[in-house]
Amino acid sequence: MASSTLSFIVFIHILVIASLTAAASAASSFYENFDITWGDGRAKILNSGHHLTLSLDKTSGSGFQSKNQYLFGKIDMQIKLVSGNSAGTVTAYYLSSQGPTHDEIDFEFLGNVTGQPYTLHTNVFTQGKGGREQQFRLWFDPTTKFHTYSILWSPQRIIFSVDSTPIREFKYLESMGVPFPKNQAMRIYSSLWDADDWATQGGRIKTDWSKAPFTTSYRNFNANACVLFNGRSSCHESGSTSTWMNQQLGTTSQQKLRWVKRNFMIYNYCTDTQRFPQGFPKECKFTS
Ligand SMILES: *[C@@H]1O[C@H](CO)[C@@H](O)[C@H](O)[C@H]1NC(C)=O
Repeated sequence: MASSTLSFIVFIHILVIASLTAAASAASSFYENFDITWGDGRAKILNSGHHLTLSLDKTSGSGFQSKNQYLFGKIDMQIKLVSGNSAGTVTAYYLSSQGPTHDEIDFEFLGNVTGQPYTLHTNVFTQGKGGREQQFRLWFDPTTKFHTYSILWSPQRIIFSVDSTPIREFKYLESMGVPFPKNQAMRIYSSLWDADDWATQGGRIKTDWSKAPFTTSYRNFNANACVLFNGRSSCHESGSTSTWMNQQLGTTSQQKLRWVKRNFMIYNYCTDTQRFPQGFPKECKFTS
């Protein structure tokens, strides 16, 4: 009797683990994975949970956040940005923990007037401190189709990728005195908002409200990740865990990263001598 009760408990336990794993790994529903947090009806989950849209008008933007908190993972999202005249609008898509010493891994898409390119802004905060901006152009128009924006966050490195092309790597360099995000679980956040005081050409171009509402769309969210559950992080024991946990940039990926840097990077804090007259932040020395 005792042993069959025990095996029943073990069985239930396995079921729970299996369903948690499935929930976090499958390209899955926005209903299951996200909560709409603001925007008074401007954010919508559509098509039985396969799509999500954020919209912005003169009154308000909108946003959502993940139900789960993650501590390391490979997180992919397909996004189609505001099209046409998107000047003044910003779509932020990021991971963040809470509090004054929070960690954060950011993608931000700054809109532009019709025909002019978006700016993809990235940053990494550790222990509440950011200031590690790198900005890029994209090699495609991000408003006509969905493209995949990925954050790989392992104990060794953070890799930002666009359609599987790495655009930025932030390495674990704590022995060099550079803090790395490794203790604080993060949620995924996204929002669409008006930042026409600074976003487009330094704030000179204002949002054209006659084109509102502006819309950003999301689909195919996928997280191979460690999920915080009852205060403990549970990682996938499935095959995919080992691949993302140990992933590094191979030769081809490093070539792609260099190609992006050479052709599409428009700002790098690590080369901004005006900003750092006393010398660059320590991690700059080790950034390929
Ligand atoms: C918008 O286009 C202008 C002109 O091509 C460019 O200088 C600017 O960096 C672009 N992006 C933003 C966000 O202003």
